[in-house]
Amino acid sequence: MEYFENNPRPASLDSHIALARAFIDQHAEQNRRVALVTSGGTTVPLENQTVRFIDNFSAGTRGATSAEYFLESGYAVIFLHRQFSLLPYARHYSHSTNCFLDYMAFSSSGGVVIDTEYQHQMGDVLAKYKKAKHDNTLLLLPFTTVNEYLWHLRDLAMLMQPLGPNSLFYLAAAVSDFFVPADRMVEHKIQSSEEFHSQQPNGNSGEPPAAHMEGKRLIIDLDPVPKFLKLLVDKWAPHSMIISFKLETDPSMLAEKSRYALKKYSHHLVIGNLLNTRKWEVLFVSAGGGEKWLRVPANRRTKSVSGSRPEDAGKDSEPAVEIESWIVPEIEKLHTQMIENGDPRELAL
Ligand code: PMT
Repeated sequence: MEYFENNPRPASLDSHIALARAFIDQHAEQNRRVALVTSGGTTVPLENQTVRFIDNFSAGTRGATSAEYFLESGYAVIFLHRQFSLLPYARHYSHSTNCFLDYMAFSSSGGVVIDTEYQHQMGDVLAKYKKAKHDNTLLLLPFTTVNEYLWHLRDLAMLMQPLGPNSLFYLAAAVSDFFVPADRMVEHKIQSSEEFHSQQPNGNSGEPPAAHMEGKRLIIDLDPVPKFLKLLVDKWAPHSMIISFKLETDPSMLAEKSRYALKKYSHHLVIGNLLNTRKWEVLFVSAGGGEKWLRVPANRRTKSVSGSRPEDAGKDSEPAVEIESWIVPEIEKLHTQMIENGDPRELAL
């Protein structure tokens, strides 16, 4: 594919692929299902030595939470995530408005311990985390840019091919639709003051760089990112179960856009979600033609304050039920159906 001829192979890829190869070999030998979970948003750098970049929305909650439930369901998980976004298990204590030190306290002897209030819940999380480490069922691989994401997705997919239908792709990452190709990217920081404008050389094309100043204005002219999902389905992972997400903000478009994505890419399942309600409702649209909403009931959309810290009362908008605890078992059932029936595209919801 032309994209990979014209855009540089990330420096981290070789070492990540070596880790993934050993991980996949282990789980193939143990006949365990392997899920590649993508999570977080990709960036589009405007300069080679990057000071400025465009980002895609995603905290990584969907991916990190789902990864935990895949592990609970017996899958090994390759977690391809945006660097510094939420991670399985750690997510319970990071990126919150509270400092992690708030979970700690001094013991009577002056040592540092987990505050008694959190010991029970943290003990549960710790036990699951330790199990995943002990069994080597969770591999964390970070990306930042859309280029790193695409290279990783392609190479990991090809590495997973020997797993056949025992492999699953759960594409929760929010991937840039537009980017600056390598031959249209400037090397150095774009200068905003007119006194320092330079039209930096730009390959052999003779065109201005994709991001450049015109007077006081920054002009950004992006290329489309190739639609990788088609390639994933047809070429990189033809025997795997493939699930993509569709994020919309306009409720009237969600079902139609999800159906459209499924028709266009011919994979197994699209999970549609709306920005404002994504934590308590999702729409499953399957290749068999079925559609179904998973909805957390209204009375379970906010956590009860009991068990959480007094200072969190009233500001906690996390649902009492993690919808991923329903999404993942549904997917596991569909995956079993796909493996047993041998007909990858006709799944009954
Ligand atoms: O992390 P959280 O804060 O919890 O948020 C989770 C989420 C809302 C980001 C997640 O649930 C979600 O919806 N992720 C997908 C976001 C989205 O719609 O991404 P997209 O429009 O870039 O891509 C949708 C699908 O199109 C991709 O999975 C991919 O399958 C395909 N695509 C996208 C870009 C591209 N160049 N080629 C593609 O094939």
